[in-house]
Amino acid sequence: IMRVALFDSHPFDRDAFLRANVEFGQDLVFLEPRLSVETCGLAAGCEAVCVFVSDRVDAPVLKALSEIGVRLVALRCAGFNNVDLKVAESLGIAVVRVPEYSPHAIAEHAVALILALNRNLIRANRRLRDGNFSLDGLVGFDLFEKTVGVVGTGKIGATFARIMRGFGCRVVAFDLEPDATLAADFGVEYLPLNEVFAVSDIISLHVPLSAGTRHLINGDSIARMRPGVMVINTGRGALVDTPALVNGLKSGRVGAAGLDVYEEEEGVFFVDHSGEVLGDQQLAWLLMCPNVLVTSHQAFLTREALAKISNITLGSVRSVEAQWRGDAPKVAADQRTVLVGVR
Ligand code: NAI
Repeated sequence: IMRVALFDSHPFDRDAFLRANVEFGQDLVFLEPRLSVETCGLAAGCEAVCVFVSDRVDAPVLKALSEIGVRLVALRCAGFNNVDLKVAESLGIAVVRVPEYSPHAIAEHAVALILALNRNLIRANRRLRDGNFSLDGLVGFDLFEKTVGVVGTGKIGATFARIMRGFGCRVVAFDLEPDATLAADFGVEYLPLNEVFAVSDIISLHVPLSAGTRHLINGDSIARMRPGVMVINTGRGALVDTPALVNGLKSGRVGAAGLDVYEEEEGVFFVDHSGEVLGDQQLAWLLMCPNVLVTSHQAFLTREALAKISNITLGSVRSVEAQWRGDAPKVAADQRTVLVGVR
């Protein structure tokens, strides 16, 4: 049995992990704070920490964790841009993640953002509650035969592309490694990135955050886009240069934006700030725009995804534990879960 400290844990994490842990029987410690240099001492006595997207797992944190005996970092998410893998490896800390839990959860949320923005559902609902049944300003467009640009056609992007094909959209895509099946069987057209920007009515981002994808949406790329384009980001906040997006929205070049992630989301998203003044003026401005819909990194939040996340994470914890004991794994672990192996 391993003692695992779950940082940044919320009631929905606790429910899912406790349910999954009936099978695994690990010693789980649920902690509300996010992992940082200041909070890592809370993991004292634990061999493993379990973290999410806003936890910082950089060099100072890893060193501090190593000093108190932590030997495993289990990410309960797919993206791992918040972890310094080189430092983890040099310290002998294993790092695992959940490479895939439900691409449908994220892809369907991207579609939800598109539909809600296009048909002005949130505005309409707010009006009706105020007794205003007017339709003025609520005109949307048919998705049928519109062009949707998908940047990144991995598990989530491909799922999203197939859904949009179901609406009768033309789907164009860019990926460093095009998916031949998606092109052949689902009629997705791969184009150079700049052409995807140029021809799309809706652009949705599904690439991981890396040096090569940071600020993929910036002033230059926005200038290439169709006037009135809808930009959807359920990937990572820093894929979008937010000041450039704000300028695009102000000039009308960008017609609408659906953001489930935001570059400065750390410390803001996942927390109730309703009694405070929002310090981030850019975010406050975005929240005021009638053509912007922000959600608080909730694309992953389905029952199915949470169940898979907790099962896969606890399964990884168990197989790392077995390797520490020198046991041969009973079931071969999915190699994509392991970012830094056990030494
Ligand atoms: P994946 O690894 O299956 O697909 C990523 C795709 O991006 C691959 O096809 C890869 O070839 C492509 N790619 C990588 N770098 C590229 C570049 N520079 N240019 C073009 N293409 C590039 O990953 P998956 O599962 O589809 O997830 C994508 C991202 O979505 C994750 O990395 C994560 O950041 C984000 N995500 C967001 C969630 C949310 O709740 N909002 C939940 C889960 C993931």
